[in-house]
Amino acid sequence: MTSIMVINAKGGSGKTTISTNLAAYYANAGFNVTLVDLDPQNSSLNWLSSRPITKPKIKGVSSLPPQKVSRKLNDVTIFDVPAAIYGPRLETYIKKARKIIIPVLPSPIDMAAAKDFLKSIRSLGSVVRNRTDICLVANRCRANTNIFEELDYYLVKEKGIRYVTAFRDNTNYINSARKGIGIFEMGESMTAQDREEWKPLLSWLKPKKK
Ligand SMILES: Nc1ncnc2c1ncn2[C@@H]1O[C@H](COP(=O)(O)OP(=O)(O)OP(=O)(O)O)[C@@H](O)[C@H]1O
Ligand SMILES: [Mg+2]
Repeated sequence: MTSIMVINAKGGSGKTTISTNLAAYYANAGFNVTLVDLDPQNSSLNWLSSRPITKPKIKGVSSLPPQKVSRKLNDVTIFDVPAAIYGPRLETYIKKARKIIIPVLPSPIDMAAAKDFLKSIRSLGSVVRNRTDICLVANRCRANTNIFEELDYYLVKEKGIRYVTAFRDNTNYINSARKGIGIFEMGESMTAQDREEWKPLLSWLKPKKK
């Protein structure tokens, strides 16, 4: 069905958190999920190793699968990419994905770095531009900060790239990560706000009707 890559040159922006939560979400929705952990830190695979056996299965792999893996209608492949990937490696990776999510922390340093990273993606040219959709997700946002205004200030000139949502800074992400589950597998009332914040991203990820 689709291949989703979570990538940003900046460390600690939430790549693993978003990858593992997406994997858990799609597994619960009945998809065959492969979580590809390209990071030697193995954070996604470590998360998977703590996953309770009672939860829907997710297949974990540590290297790029052949492109045909994601062709079946019910398949979702999610790539968790390490920080600091540039140049030819960036191109190899990005070509594997139809949808690219770039998590950005709401700090001037992180937003400036994201701007540079988007520039390096742009420089890959039309091969990438024409076959991948790219979105930005603000992560670890605190209440009372107008993150979208700030993101606009830093990144608005990136044509065709949308900010789809902002996730709050919340211990639900830390607690679920420890247990090998996602926020969609925690109590509904406790995670109600997080679930709402995920909706725009999940709808952006849905394949567009032709
Ligand atoms: N929305 C959030 N609320 C609270 N904590 C968060 C949130 N998102 C991520 N974190 C925490 O921030 C830390 C960094 O997140 P994560 O590991 O997902 O980033 P990363 O981009 O994968 O980092 P790296 O570049 O090292 O791979 C983790 O401890 C994670 O639990
Ligand atoms: Mg990571």
